[in-house]
Amino acid sequence: MMSKFLIFSALFSLVFAKPTARSMKVREAIQSVPAGYVRTGAASADTELNLRIALVQNNPEGLIDALYSVSTPDSASYGEHLSKEEAENFVAPTAQSTEAVNSWLEQAGLSAATISPAGDWLSVSVPVGQANELFDADFAVYTHSETGKQAIRTMSYSIPTELEGHLDFVHPTITFPSPISLRPVVSTPSNPGRRAIEPLASCSTSGITPDCVLSLYGIPTTKATQSSNKLGVSGFEDEFANKADLATFLNEFRPDLEGETFSLQTVDDGQNPQNASEAGLEANLDIQYTVGIASGVPVTFISVGLENKDGDLMGFLDIINFLLGESNPPQVLTTSYGFDENTISFSLANNLCNAYAQLGARGTSILFASGDGGVSGGHTSSCTDFVPVFPTSCPFVTSVGATQLTSSGGETAASFSSGGFSDYFGRQSYQTSAVSSYLAFLGSTDSGLYNTSGRAFPDVSAIGVSLEIVIEGEVELVDGTSCSSPIFASNIALINDALIAAGKSPLGFLNPFLYANPGAFHDITTGDNPGCNTNGFPATTGWDPVTGLGTPNFAALKAAAGV
Ligand SMILES: *[C@@H]1O[C@H](CO)[C@@H](O)[C@H](O)[C@H]1NC(C)=O
Ligand SMILES: *[C@@H]1O[C@H](CO)[C@@H](O)[C@H](O)[C@H]1NC(C)=O
Repeated sequence: MMSKFLIFSALFSLVFAKPTARSMKVREAIQSVPAGYVRTGAASADTELNLRIALVQNNPEGLIDALYSVSTPDSASYGEHLSKEEAENFVAPTAQSTEAVNSWLEQAGLSAATISPAGDWLSVSVPVGQANELFDADFAVYTHSETGKQAIRTMSYSIPTELEGHLDFVHPTITFPSPISLRPVVSTPSNPGRRAIEPLASCSTSGITPDCVLSLYGIPTTKATQSSNKLGVSGFEDEFANKADLATFLNEFRPDLEGETFSLQTVDDGQNPQNASEAGLEANLDIQYTVGIASGVPVTFISVGLENKDGDLMGFLDIINFLLGESNPPQVLTTSYGFDENTISFSLANNLCNAYAQLGARGTSILFASGDGGVSGGHTSSCTDFVPVFPTSCPFVTSVGATQLTSSGGETAASFSSGGFSDYFGRQSYQTSAVSSYLAFLGSTDSGLYNTSGRAFPDVSAIGVSLEIVIEGEVELVDGTSCSSPIFASNIALINDALIAAGKSPLGFLNPFLYANPGAFHDITTGDNPGCNTNGFPATTGWDPVTGLGTPNFAALKAAAGV
């Protein structure tokens, strides 16, 4: 096997005129094969790798400064969101960088396509043999023992020293597909299985309907009026949203919204087949609790195709570049998927986080579910340190945790609600004061298990246990922060409707506004999020890493927004 592989490489170096010897520098490396994976053999030299190359952006710090100026309520330019061109100007590579990387690829007989509107991402197809030479890499086949998932990855790769400062990083290389992504936890005993539609108690620990959500948070049923206001729902992993199920859901739970539906956009040949059996629990949940809560707001389901199937974040890159390419992207985007932060290379996570900052600076509120594994992230097995979840750990998105109803009709933290502190992103000033108070309260509890200087999450929360959804014509109860993010997003979309109707800007990147208005939330002070053989973090008065600032008080949030 090994000798055959070497011969293949040698042949390839003849075919693709080996560039003159250059000095190479390791760009990214991991020390050990990620947990759960084993190297199961060399990758065939002629297998085509579809590589994405990130070029160095010319002024990412300038972008973040601009993001804060338009998103911080007491700033003079609050609400003056950037145009598409203004945002792109910060992240476009310099002409020298584009030229240097393209001519290096051309010398190797390769031609790259530009895949982001600012020109900071290239895509190139390269056979494994040639990729190994170009990047001093060792692409091999790795198999995930539990799931059987296979991927071609390398433990390290290098770039020519003369491309330093031009070529930022390459994906997929050292970031292995995450075998787990966030999905609704459909757990017993709260999930008694599917049952026929019948009149139900609207607000009890054994079932939460849209009416219950509306009354908990004081959300009006009045229909939104602004057709330019959009709420986007990300769809991944062949999760499809079914229109007939939505119609049944509205007919049962929001008859006043009968006839409301959603529109579809597709990325990477994404689809949304309507056969009843193809309906996905996650996609139906996300659509039913946006269309059914954000009364009258135009909702778009954005279905990302097969490329994300191996969980390699390609789909996450592609959906964000797709939206950045739009002149009028949705003003709110909710995503109920995520990964353990430590399974993603820092460069990739940082680049994606920066892409969310671009969209935020343009006026989009980006919400992510915080994760369903308590302090253990997506881990089902043991963990020694708490595991943060990405993209929710990116400081430029709004992270949404989950609560559950108590028997007295109040809310307490849902024990699966992920929260904690990023190991990649530092704490931002908008949350310094809230988090410092919490850390003072926490004292030595959980000491050493989390990063005291990291970006803390979630930012907010919403109900996420025993939500009634319709799937294949029947009712099923679902749990998860996957319920909470669409609900919080719907509150923001309705406030945006009022803002736009009043001739004002939509809220855009939310966090500075949210932390400046802690009184606009129902503070959740009980419960915790166990994991990693600990009780996790306790919820308490004020912000906490289980329920954030709390659940929305719609009228107070709307008033804080000035409408
Ligand atoms: C869904 O419907 C299409 C066309 O109506 C059909 O070709 C396909 O086989 C169906 N898929 C399933 C899983 O039933
Ligand atoms: C903790 O977070 C800081 C800020 O993001 C980071 O620089 C540091 O590397 C993190 N420490 C660990 C052990 O991950």
